Amino acid sequence: MLSRRPLTAIALCLFALSVVPAFADTIAIIGTGDVGSALGPRFAEQGHTIVYGSRDPGRSSVNELVARSGEGASATTQADAAAQASIVVLAIPGMLVEEITRSLGDLSGKIIIDPTNPLQGKVPNLVHAAETSNAEIIQAAAPDAFVVKAFNTLNYKTMIDPGSADGPVSIPLAGDDPAAKKVVAELVAGMGLEPIDVGPLENAHWVEGMLILWINNRYGTRESFDFHLRKTR
Ligand SMILES: NC(=O)c1ccc[n+]([C@@H]2O[C@H](COP(=O)([O-])OP(=O)(O)OC[C@H]3O[C@@H](n4cnc5c(N)ncnc54)[C@H](OP(=O)(O)O)[C@@H]3O)[C@@H](O)[C@H]2O)c1
Repeated sequence: MLSRRPLTAIALCLFALSVVPAFADTIAIIGTGDVGSALGPRFAEQGHTIVYGSRDPGRSSVNELVARSGEGASATTQADAAAQASIVVLAIPGMLVEEITRSLGDLSGKIIIDPTNPLQGKVPNLVHAAETSNAEIIQAAAPDAFVVKAFNTLNYKTMIDPGSADGPVSIPLAGDDPAAKKVVAELVAGMGLEPIDVGPLENAHWVEGMLILWINNRYGTRESFDFHLRKTR
């Protein structure tokens, strides 16, 4: 006959499985600007531990961000944050991705989420700064990591409040590793956004181009518009 103790342990395990996310891990957010400050707390709500990587981890705005990023959140240098995490989000200026990725140390085996946009030139004549894409530049700088392009096609305010878009917002995910894309898709869905697979990493070039069109149109002689990808029902 089974004793009560193992049954209690099984019951506790089942309870734990029902309240924790499919995976709970440490996520490094590199950069504490608009995008880093939007994504960190939203990932923390899903049960993940957030470590911010900042050039100045002790400043008051970073302390304030840490304080609203869930249990166990912290801030440190960019390289130290990346070393602690299995998922690294590069919420950094789009023209610095290669330099910053190389400065983060060994990223082998980690998932890198790339929300950046490479913009070059002057408004309203910006051009795509990469012949390939930022996502592919990051992949070349960290060849043994799993890069997924995500979150670059929406304003940071919609990341915080997806409901403000008056309907579901889809997040295109480009990447070469299906398992990494699945992990990122779970994070996206956990925020109340809809993941949409747009194929291999090389397709990041096209999603990176969307913001360029938007900025040039807005600040050119033409009209401004909102854009939200939305899955066909
Ligand atoms: N803003 C949006 O709504 C939005 C939406 C989607 C995608 N994006 C893209 O996402 C990326 C981040 O956007 P953002 O608006 O968050 O940018 P941001 O406000 O300029 O923040 C970027 C962060 O990167 C760090 N950083 C700045 N200069 C650096 C340097 N020289 N070396 C290392 N780190 C540096 C800073 O964090 P620390 O001071 O803590 O080091 C800074 O706060 C951009 O590529 C942008 O195109 C933006």
